[in-house]
Amino acid sequence: MDNRLHDEELIEKIRVKKRELGSQLLILTHHYQKKEIVSLGDFAGDSFELSRKAAADRECRYIVFCGVHFMAESAAILAKPHQVVQIPDELAGCWMAEMADTQTVKSAFEQLESIAGKGSATPLVYMNSDAELKSFCGDRGGVVCTSSNAAKAVEWAFAQREKVLFFPDRHLGHNTGYDLGLKDDEMVVWAADKPLGGNDPEALRRARLVLWDGYCLVHTRFTRDHIEKRRAEFPEAKIIVHPECPREVVALADACGSTSRIEKYVREAPAGSTIVIGTEINMIERLASQYPDKKIIELHRSLCPNMAKISLEKLLQTVENVGEMNVVRVDEEIKAGARVALDRMLALG
Ligand code: 13P
Ligand code: SF4
Repeated sequence: MDNRLHDEELIEKIRVKKRELGSQLLILTHHYQKKEIVSLGDFAGDSFELSRKAAADRECRYIVFCGVHFMAESAAILAKPHQVVQIPDELAGCWMAEMADTQTVKSAFEQLESIAGKGSATPLVYMNSDAELKSFCGDRGGVVCTSSNAAKAVEWAFAQREKVLFFPDRHLGHNTGYDLGLKDDEMVVWAADKPLGGNDPEALRRARLVLWDGYCLVHTRFTRDHIEKRRAEFPEAKIIVHPECPREVVALADACGSTSRIEKYVREAPAGSTIVIGTEINMIERLASQYPDKKIIELHRSLCPNMAKISLEKLLQTVENVGEMNVVRVDEEIKAGARVALDRMLALG
C-alpha cells in the first residue's frame, strides 16, 4: 500500500477515536514530534509548557504524551489522581537523561559538601532526567528547571545556598551561568568517574556552579564551522539555537532559546526572513512547511531518534487501548519528592 494512503487511514482512525473520547482525552505533543503527530495533538509545546498543561487540566481522564519518557513521567507526577498518562512507545528515552543516576549524583553531592561544607549547595536538575533524580532534588531543597526557565531556577537556587550542583546538561548549565554573568573560574565541570569530579579542592571551593558532564548528542553535533558556513551562504540570515548547544555555538548565534522560544522567533519574524535553526530536524521541517513565506534552514541535520519512535501506528494503538497500554507509573514515594521539585519549578514560571 502507498505509504501516504496508509498514513491517511491511520490519521482518520485516530480522529474517530478522538471524537469518541471527546474531552476525556488530552493528546500532548512535544515540538520535536513529526508534523502528522503534532497535527493530531490538542497542544504542542516545550517541556515546561507541556508539564504546566498536564498539571492544569482537571477535566480529562487520559493524557497521551507524544514525546520522550522523562516528559511523560513528569506529566504523570503532575497529573491528578483520576488521570492516567500513557506514552505511545515506552522505549522513547533520552540519552542525556541516562547520563546521570541517583547514586552517582548523590555521591557527587556528598563529595562537594565534604569540600565546601554541609548545606553549601542546592541540587538543580534539568527536566531531562528520571523521577528519582527529581525526587532527590525535592528532598534536598532543590528544584527542576527546563530550558525556558533555567536562569530563574539558577537564581532561585543561589538565593538558597552559595553553590549549585546542576545536572545532567553541562551546556545548558554553562550557557545559563554565562548569561547570569558568572566568570569562567566560577563554573567547573564534574566528571562523574573521577574523585571530586576531576577537580582540585580549591577549584571546588571557588566554584559557584558545578556542571555535571552530561550532554545531548543531537545538539552537541552543531559546531562553530556549521555557523560560519551558514553565515557565508546566507549573510542576511538570523541564526537561533537551543541552549543544549555548546557555548561556542551559542556565542556565535543571534538568539538562543527553548523549542517554544524558537517557534515564537520564527512565527514573529517578518515574511521574507531567512532563519537558520540549530535544533532537532523534525521541528525545523515542520516550521518550514508551516511558514512557507519564510526561508527556514537547518544549521545542520540532526535527528532525535528517541522522539522519532512515536509513530502514527503506535499513537493509534494507544488511543485504541486508552487507560491500559503503556501507562506511565511512578513509585508513590518518588512521586512525592519529585512533585515538590516540580511544583517549585512551576511556581517560578
Ligand atoms: P525544550 O524544553 O526546549 O522543549 O527542550 C527539550 C529537549 O529535550 C531539547 O532537546
Ligand atoms: Fe534528549 Fe537530546 Fe532527544 Fe532532547 S534532543 S530528548 S535532550 S536526546
